[in-house]
Amino acid sequence: MVIEDLILGVETSCDDTGVAIIKTSIARDNPEEINLDILSNKLASQTELHVKYGGVVPELASREHLRSLLPLTKQALFESDLDPSYLSKIAVTTGPGLKGSLLTGLNFSAGLAAALKKPLIPINHLEGHVLSAFMESKSFPRRNFPFLTLLISGGHTQIILAKQIGKYELLGETVDDSIGETFDKVSQELGYGYPGGPMIEELAKKGDPNKHPFPKPLFKKQGLNFSFSGLKTAVIREIRKCKTSKDRYWQNNIAASLQNTISILLASKIRDAITLTGTDSLVVSGGVAANHYIRRTLSNLCLAMQVKLRLPPKHLCADNGLMIAWAACLKSLLQEDYCIEELKVRPRWNIAKRD
Ligand code: KG4
Ligand code: ZN
Repeated sequence: MVIEDLILGVETSCDDTGVAIIKTSIARDNPEEINLDILSNKLASQTELHVKYGGVVPELASREHLRSLLPLTKQALFESDLDPSYLSKIAVTTGPGLKGSLLTGLNFSAGLAAALKKPLIPINHLEGHVLSAFMESKSFPRRNFPFLTLLISGGHTQIILAKQIGKYELLGETVDDSIGETFDKVSQELGYGYPGGPMIEELAKKGDPNKHPFPKPLFKKQGLNFSFSGLKTAVIREIRKCKTSKDRYWQNNIAASLQNTISILLASKIRDAITLTGTDSLVVSGGVAANHYIRRTLSNLCLAMQVKLRLPPKHLCADNGLMIAWAACLKSLLQEDYCIEELKVRPRWNIAKRD
């Protein structure tokens, strides 16, 4: 017998409004064989709204989510050729993220779920990123566990051991800025604004990665924590020095050297984490995982260490509603207590803890 599910996923943790609808069918006797159909994946980016402020303005973000949620949901239903009453579950990000943005998404989704009398599934945004790496294979064998995860986004830089769906152990994280923040701040100093990662990647293509020997905080230190604020300050100081430079490639050299330094730091800590855990598979996800240079560095490392690397396709690295719907599908199949949590937002929700 085949069980079918139609899941609406809603993501509003930061500055992108994401709404997606997926159809999944699963054989009852083999819940790991999942047939996934992406019926609709809508995204309303707020980049233009925030760009002039050099970062996300929380009040503006929640107001914009409120504006976008209903039209996006209507579009998603239209594209999927569905009446809302056919939806079987509604999944929503309830943390971590900006409180106002999360509340907007939760209130909208809870209202919809109550009106349609459908279950509402709270999803941890970070878990959404982690599980998005398995979407392409459209299946989720339990033997995937345990696996190592590197989560690199605007809000987080974490090394996590995934033990089971819903069971994660935080092995290391940044003690100050995230990598995404570092890229964003450097881009702002260069005059390119938010989000900085794609711009740094573009500039770096024509730069010399070894031009600037930037500091590598915690590089030689034991443990799996990172620190990027000293690196960020050093890069900003170098930019101020170079502003009068006659070298037409000075910005490219800064971007390439920064990207290279961050890649070296990541590779070193991931090498240690693989050795420590003895894992044979690594998942890399979050907005920064879209960066080709970082993808290539980690892919070379995994090849050398005979570790299987899973990376979501580039377009799924950024925030989206699809990863929330997909996480809800996996949690409802593989985690017994997936739905019983009290409905509230958790702006600082640690993936390794229930609260
Ligand atoms: O996961 P995400 O979309 O939002 C959060 O949950 O934070 O990540 C956004 C971050 C931003 O800091 C952005 O600059 C960075 O991801 N980013 C990149 C690239 N694309 C986005 N960083 C480096 N290279 C990229 N191509
Ligand atoms: Zn994210």
